[in-house]
Order: sequence, then structure tokens, then C-alpha cells
Amino acid sequence: MADSQAAATEAAVAGEAAAPVKAPAETDTPKPGEGGTKSKEFEGAIGGIRDPSNVEEEESDEEEYDDEDLEDDDEDEDEDDEDHEGFMSMLQNFIMNKLDLSDHGEVEKVLEEVTVEGVVKYINSGKCKNVITMAGAGISTSAGIPDFRSPGTGLYNNLEKYNLPFPEAIFDIEFFKSNPKPFFVLAKDLYPGAFNPTPSHWFIRLLHEKGILLRHYTQNIDTLEHIAGLPAEKVVEAHGTFRTSHCIACRKEYSQDWMKEEILKDNIPTCEECSGLVKPDIVFFRESLPTRFFQLMQTDFPKCDLLLILGTSLTVQPFAMLINNVPSSCPRLLINREKAGAMDPMMAMLQGMLSSSGLALDSPRNIRDVALLGDCDEGCAKLVDMLGWKEDYEKLFTPPKKAEKTEE
Ligand code: OAD
Ligand code: ZN
Repeated sequence: MADSQAAATEAAVAGEAAAPVKAPAETDTPKPGEGGTKSKEFEGAIGGIRDPSNVEEEESDEEEYDDEDLEDDDEDEDEDDEDHEGFMSMLQNFIMNKLDLSDHGEVEKVLEEVTVEGVVKYINSGKCKNVITMAGAGISTSAGIPDFRSPGTGLYNNLEKYNLPFPEAIFDIEFFKSNPKPFFVLAKDLYPGAFNPTPSHWFIRLLHEKGILLRHYTQNIDTLEHIAGLPAEKVVEAHGTFRTSHCIACRKEYSQDWMKEEILKDNIPTCEECSGLVKPDIVFFRESLPTRFFQLMQTDFPKCDLLLILGTSLTVQPFAMLINNVPSSCPRLLINREKAGAMDPMMAMLQGMLSSSGLALDSPRNIRDVALLGDCDEGCAKLVDMLGWKEDYEKLFTPPKKAEKTEE
């Protein structure tokens, strides 16, 4: 796991676009039709790997308990967690002191206070000129597009009708080659254009209008930031786009209109030249991320002076590790229903010696990470209010664009 992460970082730093991160071990990944037990190893193969702490959590979920055991175990686990955290924190301080790795206040404290108010003051101070936004499916759920991992409503919990060997197979390139139907059925249901931007998208557009948005990095393929009027050069679609498609055999390019017609007619799109399968250019598991992602991340992140992370579980690499690529003093604000991006304390301790690692939301050493937990749209509205931007924000709203699907 650590090896693949290091490899990913190296590849990213070197700007390699091809195969930025592989699945943890090719031999471990399920072959199409091989049964549904391997999704854990597989997850994140879109860019590689998952946060190890999440894998541990899921592994423990697989054990069987009766209810009483579960309650007892919950209590025990809480205590164990506290012990573990306490121990790790002690050990971390001990090692930092022994090795003289404490920061001695060298890292500039940018925020007057490490709170949402502190972030707002910083933005209003005029010193914050290069904001990067990193987004995931959570900014689009209020548009009616499900996210992936929310219990109950997440896409990966609701794919029974497709009869998949494991949920992520729907976005797996090898599975797609042998059975493209499930993907195209889903693509018809979720076809971009049938949805409108959310208040969170309009907030990101407002950052651009205020002249402080350096770049918007999104894992989403719904193109809602474009519909909200963000110029293409401001957007990095890390997991690709529906706007173009290619034959997976001869790479012939097809237009969005062509693909849309095929999808809406329930066809399996095949190449006019070679009869190969044609797939929208969204990044599937085991495919590399777009070159643009690797090129821009290298120049953008060192310049960043405020990172806003919205609506993502930060579980898929290499996207998730971008949060560590900003300068060590750069404030990071997470706007999400749940905490995300915090590294396992052991990893944090080890990596903290070399570089920053994950959000330090609960660390006593935190001088820059803030969480605004709850609904993204509400969080963005709160920021708009606190920033005094309400009037400009509301001007951006055009009457909601009619969904293309319903126009026809
Ligand atoms: P996830 O489903 O993993 O995470 C969505 C996060 O947003 C979760 O932490 C939710 O709690 C939170 N969330 C959902 N709705 C919200 C709301 N209205 N307000 C605030 N928070 C909300 O989605 P991603 O992190 O985007 O790749 O997933 C990353 C990648 O995994 C995707 O790009 C996708 C998937 O595999 C592909 O397969 C193409
Ligand atoms: Zn072809």
C-alpha cells in the first residue's frame, strides 16, 4: 500500500500521466465474473489506492457479531480508540521532541484563528489570492445525483439491478470490455444535462468572479461547473468527462452528441472504423488520469493560499493526496457532511516527519485546518453571508437551465 502511494507520488511529481497509480496488486484484483469479494482491494484503482484507515474499518465490518457483542464491542472499541489515539499522540510528541522535529513555530500561522471566521477574515484581508477548490460527488447530491459511498443512498449501495460481481465493476475497464451494458444503462439514467448546478457550484463560480479562484479540481463527471459558467481553463476534471468519447481499440474520437444518441437509444456504442467499443472519456478504475491533471497540479498547488475541499470522502487516489501538495502554511477548509482526509495517526506521525499528511482537524498542533461540517450548499451559503457576498452571489443565479433530457 505504502509502496503504491510512494509510486503514485513519484509519478505525480514527475508528471507522468500514464498509469499514475496501479491497483494495489494486479493479481489481487478481481477478474470480471470472479465474484464479489474483492471490491476493497479494488477501490481506488481509478487512481490507485485508498486511505489505509478506511480499509481497516471495512475489514472489521465483515466480522459477525450478535447485538450484545456489538454493543460491548462498540464500548470496547471506543475505549481502545481513545487509548490508541492517546498513545499515538504521546508517542508522536515523544519522537518529535527526541528528534527535535517540533516545528518551533517555523510554519507561518496564516489564520488569526483556526475557525470558519478566521478563514473568512483571511479571504477578506485581500492576502488570499489563489484559492483552489477540490470537489467530489457531495456538491452534486442536491442536484439529484447520488454520491458513491453514502450509506443507503450512495451509488455503490444501489446497483443490485445491474447484477455486478462487485459495485465498482460498473466503472472498471476490464469488466466494461467484457460487459459494457451495465455502464451504459447507468449512463442513460445519469446522463449529464439532466441536472442543474447547485448552490455549491454557484459559490465556486463566485470565487472565480471575485478573481481569486486559481483552479477547480473536480472528481465529478456531471459537468455542472461548466453549466454554472466556470470557464474551461479554470476546471480540472480529474476523473474525465462525458464531452468526448473514444474507441477503446483504435482511439477514434466521437462527439458528445454522437454518444448521447447512442446512449439514449439503448445502443452499445461501437466504432465505425473497427467495431471496437466506444466509451465516454471518464476515467475508469485501472485507467490513468488525464495529462492535464498531472500538469496543472504541479504548478497550481505550490501557489495555493487557500484550499477548499467540498463534498468528497477523499478516499480515491491520487486525487485525495492533493491536499498535501499545498504549502505547509496554507489554510485548508473542509466543507462536508463528515470529516474526511485525516490520516491514520501512525501514518501521520511517520509522514509528518517528512511532509504534511492529511488534515490535522483534531490535532493540538493544528494551525490551519478547519471543518465546516454539514450540507455543502448550507456551508457555502454561510460563507457567502459571512463574506458579505450575498448580493453578488444572487446575481449569478440565472433561472435554472432546463434539463436537456426534458427539453426533447
Ligand atoms: P463519495 O461518495 O466517496 O463521498 C462523498 C462525500 O460527500 C461523503 O463524505 C458524503 O458524506 C459527502 N456528502 C454527500 N452529500 C453531501 C452534501 N449534500 N453536503 C455535504 N457533504 C455531502 O464521493 P467522492 O469522494 O466524489 O470515481 O468519490 C470519489 C470517486 O470515487 C468518484 O469520482 C468515483 C468513485 O469511484 C469514479 O468511479 C468515476
Ligand atoms: Zn475503433
